[in-house]
Parts: sequence; C-alpha cells; structure tokens
Amino acid sequence: MKSLIVLGSTGSIGKQTLDVIRSQPTKLRVEGLAARSSWRELAAQAREFRPRFVAVEDAQSAALLEPLLEPGTILLRGPEALLELCAAADYQTAVHGVVGAVGLRASVAVLQRGLDLALANKESLVMAGEELTELARRRGGAILPVDSELCAIFQCLRGERLERVRCVHLTASGGPFRDTPVEELEHQSRESALRHPTWNMGPRITIGSATLMNKALEVIELHHLFGIPPERIRVVIHRQSIVHSMVEFVDGSVIAQMGPPDMRGPLHFCLFHPDRTACELVGFDLGLFARLSFELVDAARFPALELGFDCARRGGDAGAVLNAADEVAVESFLEGKIRFGEIARSVSDVVARRASPASGVSAALAADADARRLTREALARTPAAPRLS
Ligand SMILES: NC(=O)c1ccc[n+]([C@@H]2O[C@H](COP(=O)([O-])OP(=O)(O)OC[C@H]3O[C@@H](n4cnc5c(N)ncnc54)[C@H](OP(=O)(O)O)[C@@H]3O)[C@@H](O)[C@H]2O)c1
Repeated sequence: MKSLIVLGSTGSIGKQTLDVIRSQPTKLRVEGLAARSSWRELAAQAREFRPRFVAVEDAQSAALLEPLLEPGTILLRGPEALLELCAAADYQTAVHGVVGAVGLRASVAVLQRGLDLALANKESLVMAGEELTELARRRGGAILPVDSELCAIFQCLRGERLERVRCVHLTASGGPFRDTPVEELEHQSRESALRHPTWNMGPRITIGSATLMNKALEVIELHHLFGIPPERIRVVIHRQSIVHSMVEFVDGSVIAQMGPPDMRGPLHFCLFHPDRTACELVGFDLGLFARLSFELVDAARFPALELGFDCARRGGDAGAVLNAADEVAVESFLEGKIRFGEIARSVSDVVARRASPASGVSAALAADADARRLTREALARTPAAPRLS
C-alpha cells in the first residue's frame, strides 16, 4: 500500500488523482488532503477516502468543514496548513496539484524530508528549479513530473544518456486561438480563451494554453528538471495532443510518448514509478491516432512563448518573475479588467524591469512579491477591457 497526500485535491489534477486512487484501492491510500477553500468538496472527499489529515488554507472554510469530518481526523487550517501537512503526515509520495506560486514552499517541504514529489505544480520548478532538483538529489526524494509533456520526456529519457540528446520537441496543442486571425487576438473574450480544444483543466493553465505562456513555463521546467539547455528545446504545435513530447537523439532517432489526452495517464505513471502497473486507460486507438499533425509555432501569434526561452537563458529569479507577472495578468483578464493581448505585453515588460541574477528559494519568493506588485501597478494604468457581448 503506497501512502499519499494530495495537495490541491479539489482541483482538476487533484480530482483526477483521486480517480486513479479510487481505481487502485488495494495499492494506494490517502493519508492527507489539502485545498484552499472548497470545503464541501473536501468533506465529500474525506468521507470517501478517510484521510488522517485535512488541510484548508481559508479559516472560514475550515470552520464550516470541521463538523463534517469524522472524529479523529486532524484538521489543519490557515496559511501554514499546507506546509504542516507536508511536514507532519506519514506518506511516501505527495501529489502536488496546487495552482500557483503558493505551491513552492510545499515542494520544498516534501523534498526536504527526502520523500517523492509527483509534481503538477509547474510554478515550483519555474521559480526555483535548480534548488529543487539539487534538494531532491541531496535528500534522496524524486521529482516525478505529472505535467504530460514533462512526464513524456521523463519516459523517453529512461535508460538514456543526457549527452546523447540532440534536442527535445515539446508539443503544444496551440489552444483555442491557433487558427484565429492574429489581428483578432487582442480582444478575445474570457469565454473563448477558456474553451480549450483538447484538455479540460483549471482556469490558469487553460489561459496559459491560449497565450502559450504555459509552454513558456514548461520550457523553463524542462530546462531545470533535465538540464537541457534552452537552445536544444524546440516547441511544435501538435493539434491532437496525442504525442505528449519527443526526444531526438544524436543518431537521429526520435522517441515519442503517446496516449489520449487524459491526465490520469501521467498520474498513474508517477504514482507507481519506477514500476509500470496495469490500468484501464485507453492506449492505441485508431480513431484518435490516425492523423497526427505537426506545425511550426507562429511567433507573432504567440509572443509569450519566447519569454520562456528568454527567462531560461537569463536564469536567476527570471522564472519567478515571469510566473508571478503571468498569474496577476491572467487573474485580471479573467476578472474582465484587461484585454487578452495585454497578458503577454505586461508580463514581458515586468520581466525586463525586474528579472535579476539572484537565485535560491528566498530570492524567488522576493521576486514573486515584487513582480506581483509591479504587474498590478502597470495593469492599473492600462485602459480597461471593453465589455464584450
Ligand atoms: N489541470 C491539468 O490538466 C494540468 C495539467 C498539467 C499541469 N497542471 C498544473 O497543475 C497545477 C494545478 O492545476 P489545476 O488545473 O488542477 O488547477 P485548479 O483546477 O485551479 O485547482 C487548483 C487546486 O489548488 C488548490 N489551491 C489553490 N491555492 C491553494 C492554497 N493556497 N493552499 C492549498 N490549496 C490551494 C485549490 O483549492 P480550492 O478548490 O479550495 O480553491 C484546488 O484544489 C497547476 O500548476 C497547473 O499548471 C495542470
């Protein structure tokens, strides 16, 4: 029985993790659940999975949840609840599906204990990838990438030597605006930006798929996790989201990892790593796999992508700045305060103004706070988004 904690259990990744656990009741056990405020969902999850710990950031939500928990369940509450769970619970693997920079300290807490981290929270690696990989190496825990593209590369590299890699091809669906005329992108609505063609995910990453900022973050993640320099990373549009990414070796061989777009695939892989165990997920499907296409990325359509390469080259706290500026800009866009086109412009501006060579977790947290402030100030000066019908 593998014991797990699920951070962000009420989100898209969290719920799909619980699906995988539900399908393997004799092999996987939930020791702890954590979320920000979704107390009703947490109560239902606690009833079903009977964890020893439940952690909730929001104090009011914790008060509403408390009477619904079984006697004996330990309820952790407040801003430190996530970290307390990572530090106190008895588990082998933490599945980290919290969204945003707030997830970084939890990643550190898990790795400091030398435990395995099944990491969907890409913000952690983007902000402090070097420190996290070093911490994992020193303490003996593994960082298992849940992100489907990184998980694909992880699988393609198993048993291979890094110096034999010619380049990595990171695939991107291109999101909902891959065919929209470039001149119409500026004014795209929240609703159309949230309409992802192949994946069903939380709002932040869905908007990141429309701008390709999500791919920019993955370039930095990939650079840190596998030590691949940015000049050996290529991004290619692959509309079907079947080829999750590819590694090209020095002899010209290209190894791809494929599967239908279903996050339970990489989650299952990470939860049973280093083994492969049977599950019900679909593999090769002629209907889905019959037509696979690949296209170059149009840089004019997706200006955010280059920021990922730029920040990977800059190093230091650039990833933390990029991520924080994007979090703030996406939030403003979702609240209808700024135009779609403003996301990439404002992030680019803040990276140019604030990124510095300072490295380490503390520097990343400081850069995160500064970049949030700078982005809010800059966005407050931009004209409001017009109301769209
Ligand atoms: N969804 C995907 O298919 C996918 C694929 C690849 C990578 N990822 C990455 O996985 C992460 C999660 O994405 P998602 O799409 O699952 O997001 P989501 O659906 O928005 O869920 C976010 C989860 O994080 C929790 N959370 C937020 N702030 C928290 C805090 N301060 N303390 C504790 N919990 C907190 C939320 O709790 P509440 O419900 O209470 O707000 C929710 O459970 C992101 O980094 C994303 O880039 C996602």
